[in-house]
Amino acid sequence: MILPIYIYGHPVLRAQNAVVTPDYPNLHELIENMKETMYHTQGIGIAAPQVGVNARIVYIDVDVLAEDFPELKDVRMVLINPKIEVDENASPVTREEGCLSVPGIHENVQRIEKIHLTWQDEQFEQHEKDIEGYLARVVQHECDHLEKTLFVDRISPIRKQIIRSKLNNMMKGKVSCDYNCKVAPIKRRK
Ligand code: NI
Repeated sequence: MILPIYIYGHPVLRAQNAVVTPDYPNLHELIENMKETMYHTQGIGIAAPQVGVNARIVYIDVDVLAEDFPELKDVRMVLINPKIEVDENASPVTREEGCLSVPGIHENVQRIEKIHLTWQDEQFEQHEKDIEGYLARVVQHECDHLEKTLFVDRISPIRKQIIRSKLNNMMKGKVSCDYNCKVAPIKRRK
């Protein structure tokens, strides 16, 4: 089932995300719905809070980028309870990012593209891997969602100023995107 994408300003994107245990209700259905929603919206990664569920689950499929980054061919990952250690000795790289929850905005983000990732798969088997390059960036972007962080929190103050009005509009529910989305509930003045 395709789920609506929660948009910048919605409190679910800034709420605590729970550790997922094997008894999590309807886990496999949720993961399938996240996949379906991500493909429908043409994303390359999605985190559970983006579909309104505050749980530590991420799905990534970067195969579509294999033309530019051959190492991404057939790379698909379900990450449950992922943990990242960034290699602080590596130099940061700046690249443009976007996000299904922040439609219409693409901005440069500086990140170190060298991480050690540990996670569990859908069967709760433990994995760990050193990841470099673009995939390390996508993993960090998605895991940021689990820490209530959006890529626009990581852009330069000047760029943030420039997109401020667009972000304010999103918070007020003024947003145009070509998929089903859910904006922040309207705050009524008392
Ligand atoms: Ni995102």
